[in-house]
Amino acid sequence: MNYPSISSITSILFLILSCSSAASADEHDNFLEYLSNKFKNNTSINNLNLVYTPNNSSYTSILRFSIQNLRFTSELTPKPLVIITPEHETQIPHVIYCAKENDIHIRIRSGGHDYEGLSYVSEIPFVILDLINFDDITVDAEQKTAWVESGARIGALYYRISERSLTLGFPAGVCPTVGVGGHFSGGGYGSLLRKYGLAADNVVDARIIDVNGKILDRKSMGEDLFWAIRGGGGASFGVILAWKIKLVDVPERVSVFTISPTLEQNATQLIHRWQYIANNFNRDLFIRILVRRVNSSQNATIRAEFQSIFLGGVNTLLPLMQESFPELGLVREDCTEMSWIQSILYFAGFPIESREVLLNRTQPNVRYFKAKSDYVQRPIPEYGLEGIWRLFYQQEADEAEIILSPYGGIMDEISESSIPFPHRAGNLYKIQHLVYWGEDEAVNSDRYISWIRRLYSYMAPYVSRFPRAAYINYRDLDIGVNNNEGKTSYSQARIWGFKYFKINFDRLVRVKTKVDPGNFFRNEQSIPSLYSSWTKTGED
Ligand code: FDA
Repeated sequence: MNYPSISSITSILFLILSCSSAASADEHDNFLEYLSNKFKNNTSINNLNLVYTPNNSSYTSILRFSIQNLRFTSELTPKPLVIITPEHETQIPHVIYCAKENDIHIRIRSGGHDYEGLSYVSEIPFVILDLINFDDITVDAEQKTAWVESGARIGALYYRISERSLTLGFPAGVCPTVGVGGHFSGGGYGSLLRKYGLAADNVVDARIIDVNGKILDRKSMGEDLFWAIRGGGGASFGVILAWKIKLVDVPERVSVFTISPTLEQNATQLIHRWQYIANNFNRDLFIRILVRRVNSSQNATIRAEFQSIFLGGVNTLLPLMQESFPELGLVREDCTEMSWIQSILYFAGFPIESREVLLNRTQPNVRYFKAKSDYVQRPIPEYGLEGIWRLFYQQEADEAEIILSPYGGIMDEISESSIPFPHRAGNLYKIQHLVYWGEDEAVNSDRYISWIRRLYSYMAPYVSRFPRAAYINYRDLDIGVNNNEGKTSYSQARIWGFKYFKINFDRLVRVKTKVDPGNFFRNEQSIPSLYSSWTKTGED
């Protein structure tokens, strides 16, 4: 990251003013006027690409660039007053200051993958602070560490690591375009989960700008705040600029396979069996299952893709599978050996030779979707699985899927309170429920959302209870929201907070109350402050 002169800091603000003529909202005008007054002595305007208002021709393309869920692209979706894309960290405190003074929300966006669009949508007047220019990645292969800025994508992180070493990796997500800013702050997991835990488990330092505009690192922010930002969800505590991460060892060769039985090929029985064993496999072995309906000319059926990576060669994998999961019938021809970086491409569905695609910041297949998550602590009986298949035969489930990701391994050993992410020992696996639909069905979005809610209701007897746990990175506003305006009681926030964080929610609230007592950084599911917006008893 380069450090800017004062003129470039102030030019960003003048730009906002210069672009303001078409603004209609009072809040907008006040915000801009405030900036203008604050910096009226400066005339340098040279950063033309940092600020976008609705009357700027690039506003819509910048807004849409990172949007990963088309549900939030309609005309009716509330739009930001301004999008600011700072280039230097010293520009950000000014934006925080002006937004605070004018009571305007800031939505912080890194990769824009939030399932409910919270990084770029708000019902009340807001600006987007888009960290798209914060994408530096510095890998120190000798020390096995890296500094990665929040706007970088995890694909680029994997790519930069592989440039320096093919035997180092990092345990983060599967989709290369996911942004580091939101992903690490919500946990972040992928195919190395059972061996090395979450991305957030492997963060060793961070830089954040707090509500007072101070730039802090681990030492100056203190261990409470450092704990909170590793899994407590983005957007509650400040603007996270960058993370220092610990890289992990991966072998020169890993093995991958995908076996895809249908119901006619015993998929139900195989999934049923997998539930008993997948969390107890050798931790070098990760087998997840993606379940979808497939329609052939004769009939529709359900197909389960058992997709796997083993951190070792095929010669070791085959006897291991024979011992632990012989029912799957794995044979040598099903397996391919490759480098770990190639396995990233394999899991993401790209040709394994095309490493450069990891540097792409946008994914080709952006759709309308709604998702939910669940944790499974006791195997679901076969008749329970068959009930899921019945729902998959409904019309709305044409492009629905569930993804079952095994836990166990190191996830059983890390304590529930080590970081805010609490879903550790006792969980066999996590389910992600997803339903997608296309542009032509946009007017019928409610039908698809109702379908996934039916699936979620159906799952209730089979998944975790008290609380019915959920993963914050699979954001779901159905499970509870704050009041964006006015007060939110403790009991109201606790409804969603305990699902994501269990008892860690209370510590998150204590940290929030200390570092942002006025509850400036807030959204529909941000951690509330005890002082400003709610009371422990729920009384206003
Ligand atoms: P985005 O920019 O939308 O931010 C998400 C939240 O964090 C918002 O509330 C935002 O304000 C806040 N935030 C972002 N940057 C911040 C910053 N610098 N400082 C403070 N707050 C900040 N998850 C997973 O664990 N494993 C996986 O394999 C995948 N795969 C996947 C694929 C696809 C296609 C999608 C759409 C999503 C996933 N996810 C995932 C979920 C993903 O981890 C989750 O959506 C992350 O929050 C995305 O982070 P972004 O920075 O991209 O989102």
